[in-house]
Amino acid sequence: MDWGMANRMAQLVQRDGHALFLPVDHGYFQGPTRRLEEPWKTIEPLLPYADALFITRGVLRSSVDPERSKPIILRVSGGTSMVGKDLANEGITTSMEEAVRLNASAVGISIFVGTDYEKESLLNLSKLVDEGERCGIPVMAVTAVGKELEKRDARYLALASRIAAELGARVVKTYWCENFERVTGGCPVPVVMAGGPQVDTELEVFEFVYDGMQKGAIGVNLGRNVWQNDFPVAMIKAIRAIIHKGATPGQAQELFESLKGARAR
Ligand code: 5RP
Repeated sequence: MDWGMANRMAQLVQRDGHALFLPVDHGYFQGPTRRLEEPWKTIEPLLPYADALFITRGVLRSSVDPERSKPIILRVSGGTSMVGKDLANEGITTSMEEAVRLNASAVGISIFVGTDYEKESLLNLSKLVDEGERCGIPVMAVTAVGKELEKRDARYLALASRIAAELGARVVKTYWCENFERVTGGCPVPVVMAGGPQVDTELEVFEFVYDGMQKGAIGVNLGRNVWQNDFPVAMIKAIRAIIHKGATPGQAQELFESLKGARAR
């Protein structure tokens, strides 16, 4: 691996081999998502506990201080919306030159395996990998399911994750699911877990993050289950304890309760 690529990967994946990415890119197709209406207000208190931000260029430029940032994973796919015809019909929205200008540590793109736009999204990934490898910028592939949340099972996610790795993604972001070892076991590059819509209890989040880590994930790319929580700082600190300190779900819950009690928000 060339020095630039190795250095960027090391900015993302910490020395313990684990990573906590904070995605705040949801507005690119959802508009002003609940509790991300004013991005900097959401990002600022969480930034010290994130290893990297997953973000679009628009929110990066408008809402993040370049002197107080963390490594950036630039969201470079889009072109569709919640109210449009098909979320899967994404293109590449941001050039590699722009990623270099913004000093991105990586770029991120969604793929839509099994949809009408499977081929386009996979060829977009391949093109981005060609450009990224030329510039020393890793590509993170997102195995997107759009509105079809029921797709999140081991068979589908293992298929999509493996295809992403085969096409050259350096990191794959997918969903946690039952039998998650089937996903990580078939994917030869590091896997991080997204959370999807907010779940009912904090303990559920701690349990799936812990389970995924035991089964081979290197970390998370977890958004709504952090910043839509009433106590987002307590939440990210508890998740960080699982990822970087090997805390169990019970220990993470205890930490969450103690921080919540101390009004960490
Ligand atoms: C949105 C994304 C998000 O980065 C991803 O879904 C993670 O966020 P969450 O944990 O809220 O699902 O790719 O398209």
